[in-house]
Amino acid sequence: MIHGKARNVIITGTGHAVPTRVLSNFDLEKMVDTSDEWIRTRTGILRRRVADEHTATSDLAAEAGRLALKDAGVSPEELDLIIVATITPDMLFPSTSCLVQKNLEAWGAACYDLSAGCSGLIYGLDMAVHSIASGAYQRALVIGADCISKVLNFQDRSTCVLFGDGAGACLLEAADQAGVLASRLGADGRGWDKLLLRGGGSRHPASPATLAAGWHYIEMCGNDVFKFAVRIMVEASLQVLADAGLQPEDIDLFIPHQANIRIIESAAQRLNLTEDQVYVNLDEYGNTSAASIGIALDEAVRSGRIKGGDRVLLVGFGAGLTWGAMIIEWVEKA
Ligand code: UT7
Repeated sequence: MIHGKARNVIITGTGHAVPTRVLSNFDLEKMVDTSDEWIRTRTGILRRRVADEHTATSDLAAEAGRLALKDAGVSPEELDLIIVATITPDMLFPSTSCLVQKNLEAWGAACYDLSAGCSGLIYGLDMAVHSIASGAYQRALVIGADCISKVLNFQDRSTCVLFGDGAGACLLEAADQAGVLASRLGADGRGWDKLLLRGGGSRHPASPATLAAGWHYIEMCGNDVFKFAVRIMVEASLQVLADAGLQPEDIDLFIPHQANIRIIESAAQRLNLTEDQVYVNLDEYGNTSAASIGIALDEAVRSGRIKGGDRVLLVGFGAGLTWGAMIIEWVEKA
């Protein structure tokens, strides 16, 4: 049972959704001054999925959420909380979670979005765990979803090759069994300008000038984020392992945020994890931001890579700067 938690909470369903359109490294070679070789060796990414002009974040989020509900055997009316973690909401307001609620017809659910960049799913899971553990809520749907392609400058090779679109969802419920063993969140707002979308908010409202400056696109200090990521993935993992009284060798599957294979390998090495303890799918999807850990978790469960009793360590980092880590003892569905 985690600190301050009165009831145990387990994940009873998972789901994910990605757009059908595939954008390969070779496609990008035709659009910007890059190469498959550079992208592959510097990031580990081979291809990513990109939403079409009719698809927005709430569409992918609702689809992932619907699959998680189906997986859990829970109907939308039984939900009392929907949290969508995203940095690419359909619009500034209303929240994307309200649009998901409408799509799912989950009329009994309170809804809010949270912005924690690529740490978003873990932030959402942590909020849901505490909301359910307190007894205030019974069933929460947490969705990490982003359409980063919509805010990418496809003339900027330093960002456009990294990201893809998608959504990953988890259904959480109270339970007698172990479930979530430990969870830690953190942030350092001093790094606010390392990864950002400057325009369109109340600081720089959208205008012809913000458009001309390209402030509707993602900006990133890649090297700084890289160094931060390598350090924080290890620190956050060790913290949460200590909270749960576990060692790295007790972990059956490590699911890190899928940003760059070099970041993942470096963290895994420092944690003394073997290759078969680490889940990687960024070759297929690129960095799907708040969706990445949710997509990986769903794939790992559905492919049998996670079984009942397994201990799973999730760890993410992202814009803010933010980070989060969580250890789950997986409970097989009855
Ligand atoms: O979810 C959180 C989101 N962000 C991240 O996780 C990003 C973390 N950072 C990274 O993954 C890496 O820093 C990058 C993949 C973004 C960049 O890799 P790097 O090894 O740090 O490369 P670099 O930025 O130091 O650039 C090395 C060279 C530069 O050329 P010069 O100055 O050495 O001539 C870049 O201009 O590579 C060049 N470059 C590229 N070349 C071909 C940068 N992007 C590209 C590209 N294709 N797409």
